Amino acid sequence: MRGEEWTVEKEKVHRYLARADEFPHRLEGERVLLEQVPRDAGRILDLGTGDGRLLGLLRAERPEMQGVGLDFSELMLGAARKRLAGDGGVELVEHDLAEPLPSLGRFDAVVSSFAIHHLEHERKRSLYGEVFELLVPGGVFANFEHVASPSRRLHLAFFAAIEEPISNEDPSDRLLDVETQLGWLRALAFEDVDCYWKWLEMALLIGVKPPGPGPA
Ligand SMILES: C[S@@+](CC[C@H](N)C(=O)[O-])C[C@H]1O[C@@H](n2cnc3c(N)ncnc32)[C@H](O)[C@@H]1O
Repeated sequence: MRGEEWTVEKEKVHRYLARADEFPHRLEGERVLLEQVPRDAGRILDLGTGDGRLLGLLRAERPEMQGVGLDFSELMLGAARKRLAGDGGVELVEHDLAEPLPSLGRFDAVVSSFAIHHLEHERKRSLYGEVFELLVPGGVFANFEHVASPSRRLHLAFFAAIEEPISNEDPSDRLLDVETQLGWLRALAFEDVDCYWKWLEMALLIGVKPPGPGPA
């Protein structure tokens, strides 16, 4: 089973959600993501939305935005419905990111948090291409991600720092280094591609779709 635990294992989902606020430095990385998504972004897509944490943070500062959250776990989507109860500005869609994205219209920003690393590397890459197509010119892709360490020692240091025994490592993790992913984004013609924030295995990768030709 590679990742499907999120759809069936209540204990795994509850354990993650109970710990979600405890990951050291997480709020710092999220703060940088919130700064990089334009305040006037009208439509925002969240890939692997979980309980809608990121959409909730974005909407708190952008009450007019329309959010769409995708996840393949009904357990997570149930938690998202609870978090975003009564919020008519957010649509939640059950979707397996291993499959091509459904047609959802264009977005001013596409965000994701600790989700894409569950996909096969080749699917990560093709998903980035689909994100590029979904964005309006000038749109922002911000992926707050669990990335690979350059060495086993640093991998163990990350688990020690988040106070998680390495034996609890998620078998559905398919961690990939920052440089490879930034290279893919550049090859897709994203601009301003960089790692905007990083702490050990937590990194914020951002690219901006080139703005269209301005008025003549
Ligand atoms: C670590 S949680 C992160 C949730 C949320 N984005 C957050 O930041 O708290 C990973 C999320 O990715 C979702 N996920 C993993 N593989 C997926 C897939 N193939 N398709 C859709 N969602 C997936 C899981 O269901 C889970 O909600």
